[in-house]
Amino acid sequence: MSKSAKLDLGEVQIDLPILEGTEGERAVDISKLRAETGFITYDNGLGNTGACLSNITFINGEKGILKHRGYSIENLCDKSSFLEVAYLLFHNKLPSDSELATLKSQITERSKLPEGIKAIIRSFPRDAHPMSLTSACMVSLSAFYPELTDQDLSTDQKNEIFPLLLGQLKTIAACVYRHGEGKDFIDPDPSLGYMEDFLYMMKGEKDINAEVIKALDVLLLLHADHEQNCSTSTVRVVGSSKANLFASLSAGIDALWGPLHGGANQAVLEMLEAIKNDGGGYEKFILKAKDKEDPFRLMGFGHRVYKNFDPRAKVIKGHCDVVLEKLNIHDPLLDIAKGLEKEALSDEYFVKRKLFPNVDFYSGIIYKALGIPTNMFTVMFALGRQPGWMAQWKEMVESDSMRITRPRQVFQGKTDEKL
Ligand code: SDX
Repeated sequence: MSKSAKLDLGEVQIDLPILEGTEGERAVDISKLRAETGFITYDNGLGNTGACLSNITFINGEKGILKHRGYSIENLCDKSSFLEVAYLLFHNKLPSDSELATLKSQITERSKLPEGIKAIIRSFPRDAHPMSLTSACMVSLSAFYPELTDQDLSTDQKNEIFPLLLGQLKTIAACVYRHGEGKDFIDPDPSLGYMEDFLYMMKGEKDINAEVIKALDVLLLLHADHEQNCSTSTVRVVGSSKANLFASLSAGIDALWGPLHGGANQAVLEMLEAIKNDGGGYEKFILKAKDKEDPFRLMGFGHRVYKNFDPRAKVIKGHCDVVLEKLNIHDPLLDIAKGLEKEALSDEYFVKRKLFPNVDFYSGIIYKALGIPTNMFTVMFALGRQPGWMAQWKEMVESDSMRITRPRQVFQGKTDEKL
């Protein structure tokens, strides 16, 4: 295959290098386009634009493939755990038993929140959305750990901030939940593992069903990283100005909140509840989703990259049946979800546009079965995605080619106004 692309712009021609990734993806490198031709490119939503070179996660949307550091998501779900995958993403290797034990104890030692952060949570209205508190707490942590806000963190400081933020966000999520419930906070219990401690700080119970722990671990693992999605791109953009990691993650949490992104898991449950309350028939909702005059979309369906099944949705769908059966729960919303999926996947509108269930379509069914309220679903997504955000930030700041992100535009405004 040619190593360059010829671009003929009429008054100027240019040869542009072609890059090929290790999974066979090809890109035209336009780094010198404007300097040599005066032209820029335009790509609404950046769906055709590679923003960086990365070794972390690979998605083949046409084949429904997701890999982290070369390991398939299915293999990782079968053989590893959320914290092992978090370590893999951040350190580019799976941890040995002793490295995993060290990570777990570092997280445990760093899970207790500064009193000032608890005061920030208590200052919010009880009915504030949990994502607003979570984002506020994340950026506020920079005031309590100023030694970790240096523009260029050392290796030791990166290896410190990684377990620190895994521990702090877990406790923030639990405190945010209890604030909304009008309950006192519960401090972390150093004798408990990551998942057990999170659920203990949320619910005050220590005797937790092993199936619940496993289901939660798989859910967080499945959310750990996903290439340059909206929130990860946001973390990179903010981090590219050399803003500290606390600020970058806080911005990522804000981007994740949107219902087109991580907020979709909450929107799916609200949609399924609406269908149930409307008598359980989903035909009306399918018609609304297809109606161009109606802003309603089938939440949990469609994806910018996956034009086949989202492999994460497949795993979660399988876990729904297992978790609900083991918890002896029958949730009519699961039946509605399965019926809705079946109907949509046989409808020309969805088939033609290659709209399949994504990671958010079934995840809320399990969160609900685990006793997690709907408005906390996107906080759960953030808990899962945090190691991916940190790994992507680390890869960027350690790159020799790191530059501040500053895209161009095609101006279409007025040109010659006079006062
Ligand atoms: C996540 O990027 C990631 O990797 C994200 C994520 C991650 O792990 O980080 O995977 C997590 O955000 C998953 C997506 C969660 N969002 C939702 O479930 C919200 C519902 N889905 C859509 O809003 C939509 O599918 C997006 C936002 C996910 C993708 O939007 P795109 O790529 O911009 O697609 P589009 O809007 O251009 O849609 C193409 C066509 C349009 O119809 P036409 O104009 O061609 O006639 O498909 C239609 C859209 O109207 N369409 C839908 C639809 N999604 C797309 N129609 C009805 N229901 C939907 N859900």
